[in-house]
Amino acid sequence: MNYIFPTETKDCGLEAAVFYCTGGQYMENFLELAGKRESCRKFNGKPVAREDLLKCVEAARLAPSACNSQPWKFIIVDDSALKIELCRAAFSAPYTASWPEKAGAILVVISERGNFTARVGNFVRDTRYYLVDIGIAVEHFILQAAELGLGTCWMGWFNEKGVKKTLGLPASSKVDIIVPVGYAETNETRKKVRRRIEETYKFNK
Ligand SMILES: Cc1cc2nc3c(=O)[nH]c(=O)nc-3n(C[C@H](O)[C@H](O)[C@H](O)COP(=O)(O)O)c2cc1C
Repeated sequence: MNYIFPTETKDCGLEAAVFYCTGGQYMENFLELAGKRESCRKFNGKPVAREDLLKCVEAARLAPSACNSQPWKFIIVDDSALKIELCRAAFSAPYTASWPEKAGAILVVISERGNFTARVGNFVRDTRYYLVDIGIAVEHFILQAAELGLGTCWMGWFNEKGVKKTLGLPASSKVDIIVPVGYAETNETRKKVRRRIEETYKFNK
């Protein structure tokens, strides 16, 4: 499948899998990366280099956000003992899961409520922009991880109180998402289960 994006040439100078192409060329590398990313629930226990984790944080840092409020903080737990303690607290019943313990690190995303302008926007539009922003930033992190050969899994089903207690975070803080990050047991990619593209878009009205 070829996707043609007739934009002007821009060399972003990065080795990332995203390229800006001239008219008539294809932007298929980003689609390959998007296709490669999948939820990993079988990690092999290998640690992840901090350099790689920081590349993922940098990708997240570059994400756009409403009023540029950047309403996130990332805590990366890569100390083995703390990681196990965190996983046991996060995935106690009814949130039971044992596989995250084998990830090399756990990303804990602290949701902030955004700056004043973004909060006024939330109120007027009845939209939680900070959650949109966190979604974008975390997906940047995850796609950069995929490009580095790392598996990840978005996780919204966990014991938030347990996470905050383990990390000594204030009770008033909000953790909406955590992401185990590590090396997958296999390199095989599953077939994506998705709605057909025709069901997902239309042009104009
Ligand atoms: C916001 C969000 C929360 C999710 N929470 C969980 C979770 O708690 N546990 C889990 O195993 N997967 C979770 N997932 C992963 C989804 O189940 C998965 O993305 C979806 O089934 C598509 O599969 P894929 O990621 O392999 O393409 C979550 C995904 C998102 C985006």
